[in-house]
Amino acid sequence: MPDTVSALGSPAERREGPAKVTGTARYAAEHTPEGCAYAWPVPATVARGRVTAVDDSAALALPGVVGVLTHENAPRLTDPDDAMLAVLQDARVPHRGWYVALVVADTLETAREAAAAVRISYAEEPHDVELRTDHPEAYVPQDEDGTSGEHLRGEADNAFAAAPVRVDALYRVPPLHNHPMEPHAATAVWQDGRLTVHDSSQGSSTVRDTLAALFELPKDRITVVSEHVGGGFGSKGTPRPHVVLAAMAARATGRPVKLVLPRRQLPTVVGHRSPTLQRVRLAAETDGTLISVVHEVTAHTSRIKEFMETGAAATRIVYPSPHSRTTHRVVPLDVPTPSWMRAPGEAPGMYALESAMDELAVALDLDPVELRLRNDTDTEPDSGKPFSSRHLAECLREGARRFGWSERDPRPRSHSEGAVLIGTGMAAATYPALASPSRASAHAHPDGSFEIRVNATDIGTGARTVLAQVAADALGVPLDRVRIEIGDSDLPSAPLAGGSSGTASWGWAVHAAGTELAENLEQRRGQPLPPEGVSASVDTKGTADADSDYSRHAFGAHFAEVGVDTVSGEVRVRRLLGVYAAGHILNPRTARSQFIGAMTMGLGMALTEGSTMDAAFGDFAECDLAAYHVPAHADVPAIEAYWIDEDDPHLNPMGSKGIGEIGIVGTAAAIGNAVRHATGVRLRELPLTPDRIL
Ligand code: MOS
Repeated sequence: MPDTVSALGSPAERREGPAKVTGTARYAAEHTPEGCAYAWPVPATVARGRVTAVDDSAALALPGVVGVLTHENAPRLTDPDDAMLAVLQDARVPHRGWYVALVVADTLETAREAAAAVRISYAEEPHDVELRTDHPEAYVPQDEDGTSGEHLRGEADNAFAAAPVRVDALYRVPPLHNHPMEPHAATAVWQDGRLTVHDSSQGSSTVRDTLAALFELPKDRITVVSEHVGGGFGSKGTPRPHVVLAAMAARATGRPVKLVLPRRQLPTVVGHRSPTLQRVRLAAETDGTLISVVHEVTAHTSRIKEFMETGAAATRIVYPSPHSRTTHRVVPLDVPTPSWMRAPGEAPGMYALESAMDELAVALDLDPVELRLRNDTDTEPDSGKPFSSRHLAECLREGARRFGWSERDPRPRSHSEGAVLIGTGMAAATYPALASPSRASAHAHPDGSFEIRVNATDIGTGARTVLAQVAADALGVPLDRVRIEIGDSDLPSAPLAGGSSGTASWGWAVHAAGTELAENLEQRRGQPLPPEGVSASVDTKGTADADSDYSRHAFGAHFAEVGVDTVSGEVRVRRLLGVYAAGHILNPRTARSQFIGAMTMGLGMALTEGSTMDAAFGDFAECDLAAYHVPAHADVPAIEAYWIDEDDPHLNPMGSKGIGEIGIVGTAAAIGNAVRHATGVRLRELPLTPDRIL
């Protein structure tokens, strides 16, 4: 076989790269069907209550206004599983910013002006948006697999009390917003009983299925296209209100309707990372061996939907200890509904745990890398299952070597340049290796080319490219012979790009379809292909972790160097280095991009990103990219990402683990630990802005 066959593992360039950089790649809002109208939503201005009257006369009087939808006249929806999607169905206002009307007009400008002219009257009720650990309505949520609840091992509290070395600390992570570069947008056409939607989504099969249920339309009468998506970070993981509103408006007006959510509305209606209050207690022997680990996470959710930011999930699998208690508690408040944001649970949870581990290292007078090495394990502490592979120790050692950790003087304030205190810190990372069932088909054309069809979504990750590599590998053909079709719900249905599981799920099906097709072709060897070619289709059953005999997780280690300006209070990250063990890396070019992108997001979480729940108004104060500062180039040093190739036979045919999220896990702790090393001061609330530093 020719060399080009080994496409998997090569740094293939993104297939859609030229289309993106030349502006020919079209996103959801860049489709303008004939006769397209434009919608603009009207958010509620009270934090809790009911709409008592809608006066749309001024709006309707504007030339070019097609209509105003409210709970009084909007199409009725079948009760959604996700209460976030029950838009314009009743008068209730569960949180500020909840949509109470939608204006449709001939132009975007008219829609916007008319939305401002809609007068809504409310019966206002008192609201409560303040997250407290002692809130009387706090409870332990219970999901099906028990992740969001409480896990107990041994006598965690008694063992803590009796231990020789202890750390007991409370960490706070503020609300965080996904803010993908491309805002949520949908263009909907409802014609001849068929609904076609271009939606900015992480998974259009789910959008199609949800719209089918909401509007009671057969699935084969709906097509949802998500060809190019400008990021999502979880906020486009499941359908969001915009796509329901666009479809509703198209049905109600008989016109194609385009709806792009304004940036300032995104924090309220597309989900956010819930703030967390996290108390961590660690107890150890004097040699650093952990005796007891207690992690209590309190998060908020809305009144309409339970969502738990599962901050203690990673604590159950990282370090062994004979005693442990990990508890999730959620408080329903009059706040917008939180949802997934990159590494939901693990990102804030490992900030707290890995900060506490650093505090423990200080209490023990032990090197923090060494502390983690002394608490390594081959079996998952909570389930007792063996890890399918775990190379955390290798990541720690390799990271320490590359970073030059052995040069470090452990004393705080030991290094400075003028008014700038320099410090270094580190933290461990982990994220589960997940996969879901997917379908895919492979087709051989008589001209020698191949076509792969799977409704995967490329949210900027390089999914197209990697799936083509997987297919070429399974087929045993050069990469340039493989075409790939993704991003359309008419293709074989597939799970979302989320949970770092896209490549594993879709790739599994693509690999299986490619392998089956290659076998078919092998049997036909010597015969010409029929004019229509030869096909193979598969439906995989990705095994859920609960069904596996192995605990499957990726691991990593983050190292950071910071400079803390003692005059301005500004923290600058000078170096950031990550080493990961995430199975086989299928494409080093796109993988590196995933790792450093997530590390950058972790840098933002540590230093600049954070939102304030305004107690008086009951809404987030930071609603644009000026107030909510996502790291810009000037904030980001040369980030280095490396990996240790793992040969793990218990994952999927490619031997890969997910790589989209682990880069944000622990990064903020590494930076916070570096700030403590630089200054000698331990700060336990993110972000580490100058006002907190000084
Ligand atoms: Mo991600 S938060 O798994 O889309």
